[in-house]
Amino acid sequence: MPRLLHIEVACAENRTIGRSGRLPWSIPEDTRLFHEHTAGQIVILGRVSFDDWAGAREDGRRAVVVTQNAVPPAPNVHSAGTFTEALRIAETLPGRIHICGGERIYAEALALDRPLRLNLTLVHAEIEGDRHFPEWRHLPWRELARRESHDEKFRYTFLELER
Ligand SMILES: NC(=O)c1ccc[n+]([C@@H]2O[C@H](COP(=O)([O-])OP(=O)(O)OC[C@H]3O[C@@H](n4cnc5c(N)ncnc54)[C@H](OP(=O)(O)O)[C@@H]3O)[C@@H](O)[C@H]2O)c1
Repeated sequence: MPRLLHIEVACAENRTIGRSGRLPWSIPEDTRLFHEHTAGQIVILGRVSFDDWAGAREDGRRAVVVTQNAVPPAPNVHSAGTFTEALRIAETLPGRIHICGGERIYAEALALDRPLRLNLTLVHAEIEGDRHFPEWRHLPWRELARRESHDEKFRYTFLELER
């Protein structure tokens, strides 16, 4: 049985995840949970997301960066030319494997025929953006947990889904 993959994403109702290379919101509770989930674990992410998140190499995380370009050598940073190669590298490392975007990497992960856990923060707003999470609602998920929360700007739901 292949290892469970954990997909970590925050997306708006219209599936926006990013704008101009950054997150289109700041939701401290979501950021904190994301950091807690991934600390000490393996994170697979695209080059733009890696460049935008210094924490990918901190708190014991091991990053596998998907890129066709060279990544400057650094401790606990691996690079892979494709998502498939990134998974192959991740499988050789101890710890949970967390898929942390961006757009193409989420699409390839959701298309895999293997056990997936989706840790989804659904931000209850329509938000303009240039990167989107693939449609996931029609897939046969089992809901493991759900918690509603909010801050001054947004209402959001933390969902834990598995398939
Ligand atoms: N809301 C969330 O939870 C969340 C999570 C992650 C990211 N984001 C947002 O999403 C945006 C970044 O995502 P993005 O989709 O633009 O970029 P990305 O996936 O982080 O990085 C894109 C780059 O990664 C490489 N790459 C990605 N997929 C690849 C594949 N399947 N095969 C080979 N190379 C691949 C390529 O690098 P090279 O050009 O170097 O070859 C590509 O140019 C930002 O706005 C970020 O804030 C949001």
